[in-house]
Amino acid sequence: MCGIIGVCALNRNITPMISLGLRRLEYRGYDSVGLAIISGDGLVIRKAKGDVDSFLSRFKVEELSGLTGLGHTRWATHGPPSDVNAHPHTDCSGRIAIVHNGVIRNWNSLKRVLELRGHRIVSETDTELIAHLIEDETPFSSSFFEAFVRAVSRLEGSYAIAVVNADEPNRVYFARMKSPLVVGLGDGFNIVASDIPALLDSTRRILLIEDGELGWVTPTEVKLFKLTELGLVSVEDKDLELRVRVVEWSVEEASKQGYPYFMLKEIVEQPYSIKSTYEGNVEDPTLRLAASLVWSSRNIIVTGAGTSYHAGLIFSYYLSRIPRRISHNIIASEYKLVEEAVGEGDIVIAISQSGETYDTLEAVRAFKARGARIVGVTNVIGSALSRESDIVIYMRAGPEIGVAATKTYTSQIMSLTLLTLFTALEGGVLDYSEVRSKLEKLSGAHEIVARAIEKSLNHEIDLSLESKSTYILGRGLGSLIAREAALKIKEIAYIHAESYPAGESKHGPIALVEKGFPVYFIATSDSPEIEGNVMEMKARGARVVVVKTDSWNLDVEPEDTVKIIEMPLGENEILLEPYPLIPYFQILAYKISVAKGHNPDKPRNLAKTVTVE
Ligand code: G6P
Repeated sequence: MCGIIGVCALNRNITPMISLGLRRLEYRGYDSVGLAIISGDGLVIRKAKGDVDSFLSRFKVEELSGLTGLGHTRWATHGPPSDVNAHPHTDCSGRIAIVHNGVIRNWNSLKRVLELRGHRIVSETDTELIAHLIEDETPFSSSFFEAFVRAVSRLEGSYAIAVVNADEPNRVYFARMKSPLVVGLGDGFNIVASDIPALLDSTRRILLIEDGELGWVTPTEVKLFKLTELGLVSVEDKDLELRVRVVEWSVEEASKQGYPYFMLKEIVEQPYSIKSTYEGNVEDPTLRLAASLVWSSRNIIVTGAGTSYHAGLIFSYYLSRIPRRISHNIIASEYKLVEEAVGEGDIVIAISQSGETYDTLEAVRAFKARGARIVGVTNVIGSALSRESDIVIYMRAGPEIGVAATKTYTSQIMSLTLLTLFTALEGGVLDYSEVRSKLEKLSGAHEIVARAIEKSLNHEIDLSLESKSTYILGRGLGSLIAREAALKIKEIAYIHAESYPAGESKHGPIALVEKGFPVYFIATSDSPEIEGNVMEMKARGARVVVVKTDSWNLDVEPEDTVKIIEMPLGENEILLEPYPLIPYFQILAYKISVAKGHNPDKPRNLAKTVTVE
């Protein structure tokens, strides 16, 4: 996910608008920054790896001036963060500049064609190809806009792009497909941007651009077209007027896109992040390579911290069920517990959303030094983990700002489930058609998570706000999801929540249970024997809530002290069960936190990325 902005003005310097826009967009991407300004007869381009503040001061951006320009904050998807990969990108002539948010899926074939046609591509990005494509179409077009439209029609994937052409100094071209894009309408200027916060300091009149639309802005007009199968259709000015909205939000509210907290925004984003993880990885040869290493390795070690460790637990379970390989889970900071036994021929699956967690990196370095191969699973391209791994699987969940991991947990599970299936294929445990039918089911996970989120948001809070303590119990898969559920309740709701295997709870924890003690069960289809454990708790007066899917029957009658919450799933498939179950607990933790007056985005004593021992 990146942030883009393009501005053109009649008689005012646009650099302050771009600088402010970059600051507002930084939450969308924070590994590189850049801008392009049309100045005199050409383009002035400044770009570098790093954050917005250092960029603005290093390049003395306030001293630049111009009437038309672009800005970009990057969150790497194609090519690691570097000065050359930072946007804007240009064509060979250096007269066209482009900024882009999204992923061009046919970049490989476009690159081959462009190189054959003599274009010199200097970065590893998919974005640069678009500048060359426009240049390539120019000789066959009667106008720059026509070349732009022809280039855009050759793109597959997602994009929000803004383009300037030094030969048309008062115009910003734009196009949108599956990546957000808005136009801000000003007095004597117009702005194109990824989202509303980038332009709220300058204007509150907004036009939302829809998929398949493209056009241009000048300081005084907006021209919009829709790209249809029948060709380009112009959107009438009167229809544009009807689409203009006046935004009342504050800048802070707008970055959260109307959600009061990033945590809620990220929980609700899960259908999109899971889909992106699935689509971005399912055909990626890297996954097949990692799978062949997993299958052929001697020992399989799975490590990580916090939520990432919890996703690793589910991976190990799936590995044992599907390709029937035993793996060993180790909390990253405790790697020494197994270090001596690890060596050549072993594989380490290191999971880290940020790719920067100190403990995880230390574990990776120690295992690597002993000859193990490393498969890193991370959300951040160019992170330390991605650099230190032999093979990297990217989660592609988009930036996560809330300290508590939510959408990256489900994306981790998705990427690791894909790895599980390809490992089974590699080992011949599943044949291709069996894998394909499981993949088909996984491709619908985003719809399952969407239904669970909707149901959980509408559900009343069940855990009394006065509770100081609760158990979250499960068996099989449920016991693993319970680990993450308890972590969310602890870190966000500030309630002591202990997860325990339900069967094991009678060997100690049950001693604390008395009348009214809240006990949650996460009941999964692999462990119907959890019924007995529910009865044990009920018999001791516990206030029981069973969370399960609707795909199987549990022989427990709901009553005053036993509530049963069914999440929609529809079919009995163990690989899909985390998606309907975890959102309930993410939302429960969130709701309790807000009801208690806490800020769920900033839980006390915690940090998003822990870079200390
Ligand atoms: C911190 C965060 C957690 C996260 C853990 C591991 O504790 O608060 O949300 O799960 O670090 O982070 P990583 O980036 O390695 O997944």
